[in-house]
Amino acid sequence: MTAKNVMELFRLDGRRAVVTGAARGLGRTIAEALAQAGANVVIASRTLSDCQAVAEEIAASTGRRTWAFVVDVANSSEIKRFAEEVSSVFGPVDILVNNAGINIRGAAEELSEADWDAVIATNLKAPFLCARAFGPAMCERGWGRIINIGSILSAVGLPGRAPYASSKAGLLNLTRVLALEWGKKGVTVNAICPGPFATDMNKQLLSDPAQYEAFVEKIPMGRWGELHEIAGAAVFLASDAASFITGSALFVDGGWTAQ
Ligand SMILES: NC(=O)c1ccc[n+]([C@@H]2O[C@H](COP(=O)([O-])OP(=O)(O)OC[C@H]3O[C@@H](n4cnc5c(N)ncnc54)[C@H](OP(=O)(O)O)[C@@H]3O)[C@@H](O)[C@H]2O)c1
Repeated sequence: MTAKNVMELFRLDGRRAVVTGAARGLGRTIAEALAQAGANVVIASRTLSDCQAVAEEIAASTGRRTWAFVVDVANSSEIKRFAEEVSSVFGPVDILVNNAGINIRGAAEELSEADWDAVIATNLKAPFLCARAFGPAMCERGWGRIINIGSILSAVGLPGRAPYASSKAGLLNLTRVLALEWGKKGVTVNAICPGPFATDMNKQLLSDPAQYEAFVEKIPMGRWGELHEIAGAAVFLASDAASFITGSALFVDGGWTAQ
């Protein structure tokens, strides 16, 4: 087989991608990047109006087809409905980005059981259910990409983050297990593990200069990530340029987890 020019391997022309939690933050950036690389993209979250607005913006700026879907990934019956609707309206899905996530911070002894359940349902159970909803059809077609958005807390701990860090560490091992199960079927499963980025999830940290600076001190590059800095990792792992990479975690963290 003649090797393609390496830059062509990054193209996603004709691919169909689903990004959960794509109405804002990292998910929005990832959805736009996949569309810039050539994919048609489903924008999904719990807020249809936000998804519609983002879908229109991305379609206008990239010329790709986009669809807005509402789904609460913390609700398993919603995931089933979502997967069925997406497959019938959009067609077979090639790329799934499990990005939707929440964080409830607090000391372990103060968090409620409901806090724990909400974070685990959204950050860990939902990627499992979404992967099961879309992955088998990818396996049947012999090509697929599943990208789970982990965190630096997939690998290291931080006080006050018991449910979140547990969910993200679990997500990394879910990534590995699915990679083993689906590797021979042409479906790769990888994680992107971001360090701190200025999104709504981090409003609390961003509004407190002391906490913000405490994070900066932990980052060897001496700054938070900028949203566009997640884009390359997502396009890479979604593309044929990453065809022999599965079960891996790509840390986009300014070096936080290198120390
Ligand atoms: N920002 C960071 O520094 C950072 C670092 C490491 C990892 N991450 C991870 O990156 C991902 C994106 O984070 P972000 O910072 O971009 O967060 P964000 O700005 O708060 O956005 C989260 C997105 O997920 C959606 N969402 C939340 N719960 C949902 C649910 N149950 N069903 C469907 N959609 C849901 C939200 O929309 P609705 O509320 O409208 O549903 C929103 O579109 C998360 O998995 C997060 O853990 C972020």
